[in-house]
Parts: sequence; C-alpha cells; structure tokens
Amino acid sequence: MQTPTFIQLHRIDDRAMADEAAAGLLAAQAHVSPKFFYDPLGSRLFDAITELQEYYPTRTEAEIFAVHGAAMAEAARDATGAGPVMVDLGAGNCAKAARLFGRLEPRRYVAVDISVDFLRDSLQHLQREHPAMQMVGVGLDFSAQLQLPERLVDGRGLVFYPGSSIGNFSPAQALRLLRDARATAAGGALLIGVDLVKPVATLEAAYDDELGVTAAFNLNLLNHLNRLLGADFRVRDWQHVAHFDTVHSRIQMHLQARHAVTVHWNGGRREFAAGERIHTENSAKWAVADFEDLLREAGFGAVRHWTDPQGWFAVFLAAG
Ligand code: AVJ
Repeated sequence: MQTPTFIQLHRIDDRAMADEAAAGLLAAQAHVSPKFFYDPLGSRLFDAITELQEYYPTRTEAEIFAVHGAAMAEAARDATGAGPVMVDLGAGNCAKAARLFGRLEPRRYVAVDISVDFLRDSLQHLQREHPAMQMVGVGLDFSAQLQLPERLVDGRGLVFYPGSSIGNFSPAQALRLLRDARATAAGGALLIGVDLVKPVATLEAAYDDELGVTAAFNLNLLNHLNRLLGADFRVRDWQHVAHFDTVHSRIQMHLQARHAVTVHWNGGRREFAAGERIHTENSAKWAVADFEDLLREAGFGAVRHWTDPQGWFAVFLAAG
C-alpha cells in the first residue's frame, strides 16, 4: 500500500492576494480575478451551479466521457504508452480523474490544485481504492505558470484539464498554458474539456439561472473581499450581471452597483457610480476549429476530439 505525498510549491500569501484584489478594485475598469470566488462557501455554490438545469457544461462533459471514455483512453494510451503519469489540473475532489483510472491505469497520479489542503482528504480516500498507485498532491497556482518538479513526470504524461476552466483565460493566456501543458506531458498528451459556442440565450441562462445560484456565487465574492481586505461591501448594493460578448466570444460576469456606493478597505477606498461595474469573470466559448488551431499553435501535432450530439461541449486529446 502506497501513501500519498504532498507538496506546496508556492506560499499562499494572503497579503499578496489582498494587494492583487485591491489593485483590481482601483483600476479604471474595476476587476477582480475569478480565483477569488472560491472561498469555502464559493466552492459549495459552484458545486450547486453544476447541478442546475440551466448549467449544461458539467453534465454534458460527463456524458461525453461516459459515451467515449473507452475511445479516449485508448487514444491516450497510444500517445503515452502503458502506465502514464497522469497530471490532473484543478483536481479538487479528484472524481473526474478517478473515473478514468480503470481504463488508463496510470502509474502515478499527480493532483494539482491551488492549495494542497484541498487535496489531502480526496487523495487519502482515493489511495485506499487504488493501493498500488503512487499519488502526489501538489499545491500550485498554475494560472501564472505550470511547471512541476521534473521527478514527478519521469516519462510520458497525460495532462488532464476537464471542466472547461480554460475558458477563464484569454486566448493568449490559454496558449501559454497549453504550451506549459505540452512541456509537462513530455511527449505524451493533453486531455482537455472545452465549452463551445452555442445560441446566446442558452449561454446567458447558464450564467444567470432562475434560482439565483450563480448570482449568489458572484455576489459571495464581495463577502470574500470583505474578509480578505477588511472591506465594507454590502451585498444588497450590488447586482449580478452576465452577458455574452460576441466580439470576444465569452460570457462576461460583472457586479453592478445598484446606486452610488463608496467602498472602503484597509488602505484604500473607491467610489462607484450607480450602474458602474466590477468585472469578475470571463468564460470563453470556443469553436472546435479555433481550439484545434490553438492546440497546434501550442505545438501539438495530432489532435482529435469528441463532442455531444448537440455540439455544445468538446473533449480534445492533443498529442505530440
Ligand atoms: C469553473 C470556470 C468552468 O466558466 O463555467 C460557472 C465557472 N462561473 N458559473 C465556468 C462559473 C459561473 C465555470 N468554470
């Protein structure tokens, strides 16, 4: 029986996080990174979002894995050889990766998330079900750069990035992450979930559901900022706004001031006019051909993909 090992590669520096958030609030167009959504309540609200009827990505991706999992695993093994090192980006509860273990039989499972503490319980639990597999939890904010200690990926790897979180990045940032993923896979492959362009009404409903769970998820960011910065945001002063920007092909989420508001925090303040917005998230929606081009630009040679019958979501396997 193996036991999981854990490493935290960067310090989780509350002061640096607070400085980053404050700088965003002071920008001409105020903005806060979507990573600030995921405090303990925010993580639970996101889980609730994935259960909503309007939020199609999670269940559509799950359906694609259920229908095409065998073909994906076979194609992945062609690229990596038997017993790959599987690197799971944004692993969280590790459930999506664990569903592939039976077919992929990775020699080592490297789960990466922003904080190693998110991974402890899930990996310890998973290890009991897969006693012979080496398991490593890595705390790393790979949105800045994805670079793992070389000893963790000795041999070809399969980098796994499900959930369409790549949508949070601009095309230029996404390209950089894909290049890093290719280097990490070291001649193996990348398996990645990507949300696709579809009718605007469907997209906007997915990010502005009738129950208001996405609104709560967005507004909860203000409570997180209050704690992090010592700020005095009042949730009832703000309104959730989500709309699809066809020029950039992305959902944009904002918090909009319901009336003039002045917000104070430790070391700063800002006045917001009625209707002024704080940008909180982009969620890019790709066309299959454009994402294929991006993968090739990142250096991948062989690219294939699987999709659902409506063509709403795609899982790409990029090798070489
Ligand atoms: C976790 C980034 C994939 O963009 O759909 C869900 C986050 N934001 N509803 C997405 C989110 C609002 C989600 N990702």
